[in-house]
Amino acid sequence: MEFKLLITTLIISLVVLSGCTNKNDSNQRQVISLKQDWKFTLGDQKDAQTAAFNDSQWDTVEVPHDWAIYGPFDKNNDVYKTVVYEDGETVPQIRLGRTGGLPYMGVGWYRKSFNVPENAKNKKLFVEFDGAMSHAKVYFNGAYIGEWPYGYTSFSLELTDHIKFGENNVLAVRLENKPKMSRWYPGAGLYRNVRLVYTPTTHIAHWGTNITTPRINEGDGTVNIKTTVKGNSKVSLLTEIYSPEGKLLKSKIDEILVKGENITNQDIKLDNPQLWSIETPKKYKVLSKIIVAAKVIDTYESSFGFRYFEFTADDGFHLNGKRVQIQGVCMHHDLGPIGAAVNKSAINRQLRILKEMGCNAIRTSHNPPSPEYLAACDSLGFIVMDESFDEWKQVKVDNGYNTLWEDWRKKDLTALIHRDRNHPSVVMWSVGNEIREQHSNGLWTMAKSLVDICHEEDPTRPVTIGMNNYEPGEVNKSKPSENKFAAQFDVKGWNYYADFKKIHEEHPYWVQLACETQSTVSTRGFYDLDAVPKKHYVRDNLQCSAYGNEYPSWANSPDVGFARLDDNPFVAGEFVWTGFDYLGEPTPYNTQWPTRSSYFGIIDFAGFPKDIYYLYQQRWSDKEVLHILPHWNWKEGQNVPIHVFTNYNSAELFVNGKSYGIRKKDSTKVYGRYRLIWDRIAFKPGLVKVKAIDKNGNYVKEATMETAGPAYKIKLISDGVPIKANGEDLAFIEVQIVDKEGRVCPLANNMVYFKVEGNGKFRAAGNGNPTDVEPFHSQKRKCFFGKSVAMIQVSKIAGEIKLIASADNLISGEISIISR
Ligand code: GAL
Repeated sequence: MEFKLLITTLIISLVVLSGCTNKNDSNQRQVISLKQDWKFTLGDQKDAQTAAFNDSQWDTVEVPHDWAIYGPFDKNNDVYKTVVYEDGETVPQIRLGRTGGLPYMGVGWYRKSFNVPENAKNKKLFVEFDGAMSHAKVYFNGAYIGEWPYGYTSFSLELTDHIKFGENNVLAVRLENKPKMSRWYPGAGLYRNVRLVYTPTTHIAHWGTNITTPRINEGDGTVNIKTTVKGNSKVSLLTEIYSPEGKLLKSKIDEILVKGENITNQDIKLDNPQLWSIETPKKYKVLSKIIVAAKVIDTYESSFGFRYFEFTADDGFHLNGKRVQIQGVCMHHDLGPIGAAVNKSAINRQLRILKEMGCNAIRTSHNPPSPEYLAACDSLGFIVMDESFDEWKQVKVDNGYNTLWEDWRKKDLTALIHRDRNHPSVVMWSVGNEIREQHSNGLWTMAKSLVDICHEEDPTRPVTIGMNNYEPGEVNKSKPSENKFAAQFDVKGWNYYADFKKIHEEHPYWVQLACETQSTVSTRGFYDLDAVPKKHYVRDNLQCSAYGNEYPSWANSPDVGFARLDDNPFVAGEFVWTGFDYLGEPTPYNTQWPTRSSYFGIIDFAGFPKDIYYLYQQRWSDKEVLHILPHWNWKEGQNVPIHVFTNYNSAELFVNGKSYGIRKKDSTKVYGRYRLIWDRIAFKPGLVKVKAIDKNGNYVKEATMETAGPAYKIKLISDGVPIKANGEDLAFIEVQIVDKEGRVCPLANNMVYFKVEGNGKFRAAGNGNPTDVEPFHSQKRKCFFGKSVAMIQVSKIAGEIKLIASADNLISGEISIISR
């Protein structure tokens, strides 16, 4: 034992002496991001896979690249006749805008040329795709290398055998999207990152670490690391663990004999582990190193977190021993006006806005997210329901996952788990959403087979699914809670109307989660003064009211959803449909045009909170919330309902100094339990003030709305988030139309023209209007109810970037931001 210890210490010291990181050692793993200078064309091209093919006429693009986001929007894109069972329908109708009205369909080719140096001769070369939409076929120097049809799955392919050393090498990717392949905008192309990875012949495998924390005690914690090494030789595997502050804490070294593939199991005990939690998301780093003759030949980085959790049947979800209510949102993967192309700034912005609301959980509906998304959830402190499919074998959309089910489900699900298993944020796997098979008596076996895959690949996390237990017309053959389907899952995820109480009584040991709730539809800034609950209500202006009281037939207002959870506290919490508006699924206007994005978001498509944001915030966050709506620009004498979203129990309303009385929350009323309502206040221009009242009857906080004068100038506001001169970061600039006094004009819809100067370029703009079909990259955008947002992409040169915004008859706005 002692001798072994001595040798181990010796090897570690030698490695340290010889410089562990070996940055310049050509034997080391090298990761090259393939972002710039891809050639791209739409449409099929003969021989485009061959190295000699002349692609000089193709466009030059940057990856991540979403070929369809540039439009044009057209109602004829992906139009089809179908019954949307999810909408409670039984009769087929022609659908418009269901996938955003964008041209995502068809074939697209990408080609990337690069040189492979002679000194790479003893290496292996892989290409890694974080996702490619879709039906990727990959060629290297003309040779077919492999394929991956499901556009959301990350995959790696080996190129080694076809390398031309010292010469130009060509990676070619053919993608094909079929119409009717999605119920939302899927994006198109190489919309996620692509990398080349050179490794030594003996190397840590792709997703080669599996890190768990089997024991966490008061003063110590054990990390278990299973490392897969590929190759053929005798090597040492050194595993180092670094603290969240970056300090090397402990390491372990084992000699291993690799014959094809070897999995090494190492336990490392750490003192006083810092827990990963929603409030303090502490991440540890692991470096796995392969050592030969005291030299590091491969280094692979992973991260993990110490946290433990439990889903209980009678007291919901517990994280690190504490009851945590899941205050989550479902998110589709598009990033607003930049589309599906992955961008860290846009992801972080979404998550920051959600965090500010008190949101603590994300359901990646209904597909694997990007790696960047999960990394951000790890760092910002969100728990994640990591979801794989929206469809199994039974068809929702003709060319959906049903076409891949037979051959790919196991590969896709396993890839998801292998890629995401080290993320502390991920607390459950979801194998589907409203899968049609849930309503058939015998098909629970399909559920079981997927659950078994998850359990086998990762015994540490529960498996769930989004089921609908209610009776949506034709598909209702039997209820998943009664036909053995639900019984297969560790966590019973319900979308919308499951009778939690009844199920709890019938199955006291079942863990229940409201994994899709509300689907309230609203438009930021638009108010229907007839502010009564409205089901599947449509208007000529194709908008939904921002009072937060409109919803489709299967859905409800937040107020009703809150009550359902408050009355069933054993439920682990909820995932609201949805956090942000997304491209496609413009219910209740999915037979009209132009409507290209959803109304379901708590936050609009441009990233502006709608009023209901504050209804969630007063419930979910510990901030003092006092939000008043609508605005105060009406016609004299119009009767305006005034609603206040607050976590205070009561408040008093004043219009131009005159009191309109005190309202108290009233748990006997559906709409009085979570909001304060003054039903009809006759409009007079001026100032509306609401004063919150505390338990002792004292005024403690006030909020106002004031009549704005005519539009006068453009005001630009930066969100202040630091931007790096890395060629990728985005700066988000809010555009407001304001009056002479600087008050936002709540009805202004001026067309604003943008110009960018300095070290950045205009990328896109949005305004939150689901009916605006101006392409996002166009350098002009109408304001929508007073606002829009411009997105500026930095260059690689640090310095000043200036945005100038102008409009007819308004004073222009100008703002400078600095990239570093
Ligand atoms: C659900 C479905 C979601 C979305 C939502 C709209 O039934 O799971 O993907 O379609 O309805 O309300």
